[in-house]
Amino acid sequence: MATVQSARRAAGSAAIRLPGTRLFSIGSVAGRSPMPMRAPVVPPTPWIARARLASTAATAPVPGSFHSPPADGAKENKRKHEKEPASYWGVAPTRVIKDDGTEWKWSCFRPWDAYEADVSIDLAKHHEPVTLGDKVARWTVKAMRWPTDIFFQRRYGCRAMMLETVAAVPGMVAGAVIHLRSVRRFEQSGGWIRALLEEAENERMHLMTFMEVSQPRWHERALVVAVQGVFLHAYLAAYLISPAAAHRMVGYLEEEAVHSYTEFLRDLDAGKIENVPAPAIAIDYWCLPAGATLRDVVEVVRADEAHHRDVNHYASDIHHQGHELREVAAPIGYH
Ligand SMILES: [Fe+2]
Ligand SMILES: [Fe+2]
Repeated sequence: MATVQSARRAAGSAAIRLPGTRLFSIGSVAGRSPMPMRAPVVPPTPWIARARLASTAATAPVPGSFHSPPADGAKENKRKHEKEPASYWGVAPTRVIKDDGTEWKWSCFRPWDAYEADVSIDLAKHHEPVTLGDKVARWTVKAMRWPTDIFFQRRYGCRAMMLETVAAVPGMVAGAVIHLRSVRRFEQSGGWIRALLEEAENERMHLMTFMEVSQPRWHERALVVAVQGVFLHAYLAAYLISPAAAHRMVGYLEEEAVHSYTEFLRDLDAGKIENVPAPAIAIDYWCLPAGATLRDVVEVVRADEAHHRDVNHYASDIHHQGHELREVAAPIGYH
């Protein structure tokens, strides 16, 4: 505990190197708070960031290692900081400065949330339905695909955006159910709460990315509200009745997502969809090269969906084999 706390104190002025070759510094705006700050505030740290912060704490902070924003951006940064609420409670926004001196612009995710997608994953994997629950799950997904195909046809950007609003629900529901069960029964979760919430967050990032490419119209937004209302409750009921079938259904949903993104890539390659530059948020989230395009984004999103497919079929198999999820270590950070 002492190590972590000293790491957090040191992190306010020390440069840390995160996955890849990028160099970042973390700082807070403690000096701008009307209250003296006891320690720089560092956001919740997953294991990799925590490990690196701990190793940073082992050595004294290097003077001058905190990167200053470039002079050109100083005025803009000052203006931005002046708008920030002052913290009476000693909580201040955390800043991450990149090695080029510019500020990390995304507060919805941080450099340690970024990763390089494993695009070598087998895209053709399929679970052949065996039990009645499997068959119901498969046909439910097939039935859901039918109106989607009619509504969106080959407008893949829009289709992807709308489907991600649905795809972000199951992980959150399942994570919440397991969380409440863990608290209620005084038992460990096996890491599944975190793994499922990671999936939900990853799906939400897909949505944030496709929003940059395709803006929803008012009637599409209305459709999302209606679909979310129905799907949230239906999935919650399904998960409470049969988590095995519910995970199997998500597994099939992800198989369909892999198929849809493959079609998307086909249309991009055929020139039917313009291969525009990748949104900045996607470049930072998936550590893509500067010149990345929409095609690169679709490829990494498809890889994510294949990972979700595997995790959910795996979770369903665990149930089918007579175990509880908590008995098996969850695939945290599986991308
Ligand atoms: Fe997705
Ligand atoms: Fe997915």
